[in-house]
Amino acid sequence: MSSYLVTGAAGFIGSHLCAELQEQGARVRGIDAFTDYYARNLKEENLACARDGGQLEFVEDDLASADLDSVLDGVDGVFHLAAQPGVRASWGREFEIYLRDNLLVTQRIFQACASRGIRVVYASSSSIYGDAETYPTTEDVVPRPISPYGITKLGCEHLARSFGRAAGVDAVGLRYFTVFGPRQRPDMAFTRLARAAVLGETFSLLGDGRQSRDFTFVMDAVSATIGAMRHGRAGVNYNVGGGAETSLREVIELLEDLSGHQITIRWQERVAGDVFRTASDTTAIRRDVGWTPTTSIRAGLAAQLHWIEATSRRDGDDVAVSGATPVHQR
Ligand SMILES: NC(=O)c1ccc[n+]([C@@H]2O[C@H](COP(=O)([O-])OP(=O)(O)OC[C@H]3O[C@@H](n4cnc5c(N)ncnc54)[C@H](O)[C@@H]3O)[C@@H](O)[C@H]2O)c1
Repeated sequence: MSSYLVTGAAGFIGSHLCAELQEQGARVRGIDAFTDYYARNLKEENLACARDGGQLEFVEDDLASADLDSVLDGVDGVFHLAAQPGVRASWGREFEIYLRDNLLVTQRIFQACASRGIRVVYASSSSIYGDAETYPTTEDVVPRPISPYGITKLGCEHLARSFGRAAGVDAVGLRYFTVFGPRQRPDMAFTRLARAAVLGETFSLLGDGRQSRDFTFVMDAVSATIGAMRHGRAGVNYNVGGGAETSLREVIELLEDLSGHQITIRWQERVAGDVFRTASDTTAIRRDVGWTPTTSIRAGLAAQLHWIEATSRRDGDDVAVSGATPVHQR
C-alpha cells in the first residue's frame, strides 16, 4: 500500500484527491493551513468530504514554516496542490502572499522531496500560457503569463527544472485548465453562476461572455493527477484539460436549461490578467499516462448544480425562489 502526502488537502481539488486516493487503497496524510483566501468553514466541509474516503491523517500547518521532516515521514510520494489561487487577486500588495504560498512553499517541497528521493506531482496552471500563441495549446508553446498568479505558477515550473538538474528532484507538473464540479472555490465562475441560478443571486460577468475556457471536471483532474504519479515522465509538464472549449455565454445557457431558471447578469468590464481563451492539447498526457477525460460539461455542471442546491438547502438558504425567474416565464 502506498503512502501519500496531499498538500492543500482542505481545498477544492485536494479534498477530492484525498478521497479518491483512499478509495483506491492508499494511505493519505493531508496538510492544509486554512488560508483566508476563502472561508474556513467551506474548507472544513471539504475536509469532512476528504475524510469520507477512510482514515485521512490530517495536519493543520503552514508549509512555509512546517517541519517537513515529520510531515514527509513515511511518505512515498507528494501531491503538491497547496497554493494561493486566483488570477484577479494577485495584483498589488497581495502578491506577497503568492510569492510565499506558491514560490517559497514549492521551493521547500522540491528541496525536501529531492533529498528523500520521492516523486512530487505538483499543480501548475493553464495561466502560464497567458493569451497563447496557438490553440489548442501544446506544452511546447512559449509561456507568457499575463497575471502575477500565472508568473508564480511558471516560477514553480522553473524551480522544478532547476531542482531536477541540480538535485535530481523527480517532479511532474500538471497545467490544470479551469477545474469545476462540486466544492469548486466560491470565487470561481461556475459556483457563482450556480448560486445565481439556484438562489437568485446576481452574477457579475466580467467582459462580454464570449471568453472561453477548456473546462475540466474535478474527478477527471483527479484521475490525471493520480495517473501522473504512476506513469508521468519526470521533469515533464502536462496539460490537463477537459477538451471541450466552451464560452461563458454557452455555460450560462446550459445552467439555465439545467436549473430551469434565468440568471440575472450584471455586465462589467473585463479585468487585467484574465485571458480571453484557453484550449488544451492533451496528446502528451494521453500518450504517457493513458489519461482521458470522461465527464462532459453538461454532466459536470449538473453535478455542481446539485451540490449547490443540496448545500444551500442545508444552510437554510431560500432555494430557487429568491429572485430567480423560471425560464418558462420569460
Ligand atoms: N481550480 C482550478 O481551476 C485550478 C486551475 C489551475 C491550477 N490550479 C491549482 O490547483 C491547486 C488547487 O487549487 P484549488 O482550486 O483546489 O484551490 P484551493 O484554494 O481550494 O486549495 C488550495 C489549498 O491550499 C491551502 N494552502 C495555501 N497555502 C498554504 C500553505 N502555505 N500551507 C498549507 N496549506 C496552504 C489553502 O488553505 C487551500 O485549502 C492550486 O495549486 C491551484 O493554483 C487550480
